Amino acid sequence: MKIHLQTPEEIRPQIWKELGRASLDRHHEWRTPVLASADTDGLPDARTVVLREVDAVAGQLTFYTDSRSPKVAQLQA
Ligand SMILES: Cc1cc2nc3c(=O)[nH]c(=O)nc-3n(C[C@H](O)[C@H](O)[C@H](O)COP(=O)(O)O)c2cc1C
Repeated sequence: MKIHLQTPEEIRPQIWKELGRASLDRHHEWRTPVLASADTDGLPDARTVVLREVDAVAGQLTFYTDSRSPKVAQLQA
């Protein structure tokens, strides 16, 4: 068995590349990540969202939502 070890610095760009693919391919397994935030009691609140855009340079992932949804207030807080 041959084991190829990679450093975090090698793995990180591969992950961003895959995230970029996921934002373009609606059948990609990473297309619908779970976004977790903290509620007003500090407890975790998690839900599925659709990954819409990926900017590897800015380190930014984009999803769309209703501005009135609880998750928006949680993320702003
Ligand atoms: C496959 C799937 C994709 C979803 N994508 C989104 C999304 O892109 N944006 C969104 O606001 N909600 C999406 N939802 C609904 C959320 O999971 C969640 O139920 C809703 O946004 C309310 O979340 P909140 O009350 O925590 O704010 C999706 C649900 C599923 C099952």
